[in-house]
Amino acid sequence: MIPPRLQLGVLPTPLVPAPRLAGALGCDELWIKRDDLAGFGVAGNKTRPLEHLLGDALARDADVLITGGGPDSNFVAAAAMAARVAGLACELVVWGAGALGPTPNLTLAAAAGADIVPLGDDRRERVDLVVAERAAALRAAGRRPVAVPRGGSTAVGAVGFARAATELLTQGPAPAYVVLPLGSGGSTAGLLAGLTAAGVDTTVIAVSVSRPPAEITEKVLGLARESAALMGAAPPRPDRLEVVDHRGPGFGVAAPDDRAAAATVLHTEGLLLDDTYGAKAFAVALARLRDGLPGPVVLWHTGGVASALAHLADHPAPTGAP
Ligand SMILES: Cc1ncc(COP(=O)(O)O)c(C=O)c1O
Repeated sequence: MIPPRLQLGVLPTPLVPAPRLAGALGCDELWIKRDDLAGFGVAGNKTRPLEHLLGDALARDADVLITGGGPDSNFVAAAAMAARVAGLACELVVWGAGALGPTPNLTLAAAAGADIVPLGDDRRERVDLVVAERAAALRAAGRRPVAVPRGGSTAVGAVGFARAATELLTQGPAPAYVVLPLGSGGSTAGLLAGLTAAGVDTTVIAVSVSRPPAEITEKVLGLARESAALMGAAPPRPDRLEVVDHRGPGFGVAAPDDRAAAATVLHTEGLLLDDTYGAKAFAVALARLRDGLPGPVVLWHTGGVASALAHLADHPAPTGAP
């Protein structure tokens, strides 16, 4: 059964042509899906899973949302704000060694009233364990917690991106390729499930920024299968998923080529990309487009605006035309 939805975003997000970027790359039929304009805080793509995760939490009569992520995570800020809309308290387990820096996303989460629980180290994979432990402790104390893993990447959350696939297909021709960044996997999983359910032949090129391809591919396909089952849809087509390893110098660290791709996108289409997700996904996409990837191609701008603004000062000064 399709999980209930708490409306947070202003959807559909625009699908816009990118003629200047296409001209710079020597390709045509290039579109950008503007999930940076999802209309809920600066949550970007994370608006979509949160609509279903909070809808589900309300259906379960939860009174506190517990989740987590990194100190620069768009998802933690978005979750803190979404919890408020649903009338829930929010606890966030945040990884990072030493004192947590006042990043825009963490500052926003705290301003929205979330309780921040520092993990105290960099072992990101421990976040979900501590989230589960906190949920158990709160349940024992008589609260009604709902625990959500990092990134909101569950089958329920992925339904939000399956809906995004349907949304996309009402806005333009079925793309030959969609390119998007791949972190915890829910966005890619939902997209794959939704595109398969719609019966189109689109290939999803998912650019892994944090996990080895084999590991994240298995997770994505598992989530996509579960999500399709929830929706009563056909199982996803693994042959329509291409995972590209683009972790580069590490999670959250953009290589010079990534920054160059972000500068090209800024100089041609006026769009801001973050180092962690957008710059890396677009770097892969731009290289593939230059190599003749056939269209129509949709590049998914997933947001990351708060983090992008914070890191702009690290970028080299613009040197002119792309
Ligand atoms: C801006 C942005 N883009 C892409 C992603 C990756 O999405 P997913 O974690 O669903 O793979 C995230 C995850 O937090 C994100 O914040």
